[in-house]
Amino acid sequence: MRLWSLVWLLGCRAAAWRSGNYWLDDAVGLGPQFDGIGAISGGGATSRLLVDYPEPYRSQILDYLFMPNFGASLHILKVEIGGDAQSTDGTEPSHMHYENDENYFRGYEWWLMKEAKKRNPSIKLIGLPWAFPGWIGRGKNWPYDYPDVTTYYIVSWIIGAKRFHDLDIDYIGIWNERSFNSKYIKILRYTLDKQELQRVRIIASDDLWEPISFNMLVDSELREAVDIIGAHYPGTTTVKTAQLTLKKLWASEDYSTFNNEVGAGCWARILNQNYVNGNMTATIAWNLVASYYEEMPFGRCGLMTAQEPWSGHYTVNSPIWVTAHTTQFTQPGWYYLRVDGHLEKGGSFVALTDGLGNLTIIIETMTHNHSKCIRPPLFPYTVSPQKAVFYLKGSFSKLKSLQMWYSKLEFSTANSTLFQSLGPKNICEGMLTLNLGLDEIYTLTTVTTGHKSPFSEPPPSQPFPFTYKDDFNIRNPPFSEAPYFADQTGVFEYFINASDPGEHVFTLRQVVTQRPITWVIDAKNTVSTIGNYKWINFTITCDIYIESNKGGAFIAGRVNKGGIYTAIAEGIFFWVFPDGTYQVTGDLAGNKILMKGLSGVRANRWHTLTLILKGSSASGMLNGYPLWENVTTKSPENGWAAIGTHSFELTQFDNFHVQAS
Ligand SMILES: *[C@@H]1O[C@H](CO)[C@@H](O)[C@H](O)[C@H]1NC(C)=O
Ligand SMILES: *[C@@H]1O[C@H](CO)[C@@H](O)[C@H](O)[C@H]1NC(C)=O
Ligand SMILES: *[C@@H]1O[C@H](CO)[C@@H](O)[C@H](O)[C@H]1NC(C)=O
Ligand SMILES: *[C@@H]1O[C@H](CO)[C@@H](O)[C@H](O)[C@H]1NC(C)=O
Ligand SMILES: *[C@@H]1O[C@H](CO)[C@@H](O)[C@H](O)[C@H]1NC(C)=O
Ligand SMILES: *[C@@H]1O[C@H](CO)[C@@H](O)[C@H](O)[C@H]1NC(C)=O
Ligand SMILES: *[C@@H]1O[C@H](CO)[C@@H](O)[C@H](O)[C@H]1NC(C)=O
Repeated sequence: MRLWSLVWLLGCRAAAWRSGNYWLDDAVGLGPQFDGIGAISGGGATSRLLVDYPEPYRSQILDYLFMPNFGASLHILKVEIGGDAQSTDGTEPSHMHYENDENYFRGYEWWLMKEAKKRNPSIKLIGLPWAFPGWIGRGKNWPYDYPDVTTYYIVSWIIGAKRFHDLDIDYIGIWNERSFNSKYIKILRYTLDKQELQRVRIIASDDLWEPISFNMLVDSELREAVDIIGAHYPGTTTVKTAQLTLKKLWASEDYSTFNNEVGAGCWARILNQNYVNGNMTATIAWNLVASYYEEMPFGRCGLMTAQEPWSGHYTVNSPIWVTAHTTQFTQPGWYYLRVDGHLEKGGSFVALTDGLGNLTIIIETMTHNHSKCIRPPLFPYTVSPQKAVFYLKGSFSKLKSLQMWYSKLEFSTANSTLFQSLGPKNICEGMLTLNLGLDEIYTLTTVTTGHKSPFSEPPPSQPFPFTYKDDFNIRNPPFSEAPYFADQTGVFEYFINASDPGEHVFTLRQVVTQRPITWVIDAKNTVSTIGNYKWINFTITCDIYIESNKGGAFIAGRVNKGGIYTAIAEGIFFWVFPDGTYQVTGDLAGNKILMKGLSGVRANRWHTLTLILKGSSASGMLNGYPLWENVTTKSPENGWAAIGTHSFELTQFDNFHVQAS
């Protein structure tokens, strides 16, 4: 018999010729529940510039992230519980700077959670601290010596979310990528229950699978208290002890990769393979949106990019459309089908159902070079083009067609095909046949609400304006921080001094007065950066008001480091101290003294500082009169402008003005 007549005899079944065959059947019982795909805002300050975007662009960005059936349509939003300390790309303010202080309107995470809920009322919310204000540790750099105090602090945040913003927090974490403490976790669970917050589930420990998994196995009370084991950058695999706990396993932080086509490939691969290889039922990306100065650590490691509020320009990067392949066609609470999701010639698939007849299959064939994540290392493997046949059984056996969505990643976004609707794909006698190429993503689904919704192009990219002024004179500021200022140590907030006779009623004030319980080695000084990293020549003027005799304030230009590297930042720093001296240093730490002398500056008095950087020459003025001149500077050649203080002391700033080139 000739081959063609065999094909004719077999009908649809001819498709099975030389293919990988996979059976999708809900009659064998469903697999674990799916908990969703999400992203992290914070850890730290990663959404800082988003809040400063003008409308309508800010809402468009939020729509791409959170609106169901629109873009990334995220299921989970995880936010940092600000701890007044550096947490990667900046500091985020705490709701309790001091022991007797409570304020649930600082920062932008409250706002972001509300914007997310507005668009998707069923989005899940997670809170996690990276750092804590210093009073929690009573002077020690450790949050667990007084577990009742730490519990009070965290539970207050959850209660404040409800009371002031009507936000129900679904999950709470322990301490990002740092030690956990079993006693603290148990007290936290006990206190949540006592406050009728049983619905708030605990994730631990936002680090590696161990030691939390082992501790849970040997401590039944701990095992009882923890609902989800959250591991970071698991490389799609888990460990035996984690499985033995019988708890949900999540990649509670993952991705963290530059958001080009390889970053998109990383994300596509781990979204499937975290389940296929490691039984993880949720994956959460760091970070939600790259809204921090790009030269900060991990620049553009967000699902999309919105780092230019002054121009309104933003970019919807490929990871957004990779996310849509899963999020638009599944929901937390759906179930994975029981099937080994490894494709015969490399790549993977997952199949999920709502248990009500809906079916969604997501397939990825990412090659090694096209899907490396920042960490962990990816061992070599091969993927080849292949034919795959899915046999639909059980409730799915009668399906006649499935909606098909398609992406193919190239090495440039312009050349990639991203989240394209290919319409209904026929199913022939319960068989779905696909010819899979390389670096492709397919979604096949009964869900018909998928949608790719582009807004018209945002405005073109523009550098930060060369001239920028802020007098901080805002009566009802929408956020506690001033536009474009990116706090790197300490917290700079709008301040009103009603008893000021006139000129300095509205100011910007550094408010952290004690070294926080840090996440990295914070600078001993406070600093807030602003502007364009490429700036070379500067004239910076700012009024300063040192509130303590122990203090000191500076203005600076060419500041070359931020985020986790802030403590070793170089630049040209012009300092004044309330003992009547000044200094010019080449670094934030104050080790490289270029010039020093007397200034007559005093605490509790306003003074105007001016720093002029021109080529290799620097000079400084006090209250409009030259104080020092012709200091020679070589490095760094460029960097941001900055303001800050010598230590954790209250200090005010006013009438900031930078002119740069
Ligand atoms: C995932 O779970 C299944 C069933 O519970 C189990 O058979 C399998 O070994 C697990 N996978 C891993 C990587 O532990
Ligand atoms: C699938 O989900 C939709 C809602 O998304 C629902 O209306 C429908 O009944 C479900 N079942 C099937 C078989 O499509
Ligand atoms: C992957 O990248 C490496 C290094 O860039 C290159 O040598 C290799 O040929 C690439 N492999 C494929 C299959 O493209
Ligand atoms: C896009 O594809 C074209 C045609 O294959 C190729 O010449 C070009 O180099 C690609 N662009 C980029 C940026 O990779
Ligand atoms: C507020 O202004 C008054 C009057 O100038 C001054 O005495 C006081 O120190 C200021 N308070 C703060 C906190 O700046
Ligand atoms: C900075 O100033 C120096 C000295 O005046 C000048 O030579 C150089 O062109 C300036 N650079 C920029 C980018 O303005
Ligand atoms: C600084 O340099 C300028 C120009 O070279 C010169 O006129 C001035 O006298 C110098 N000032 C000091 C204090 O050396």
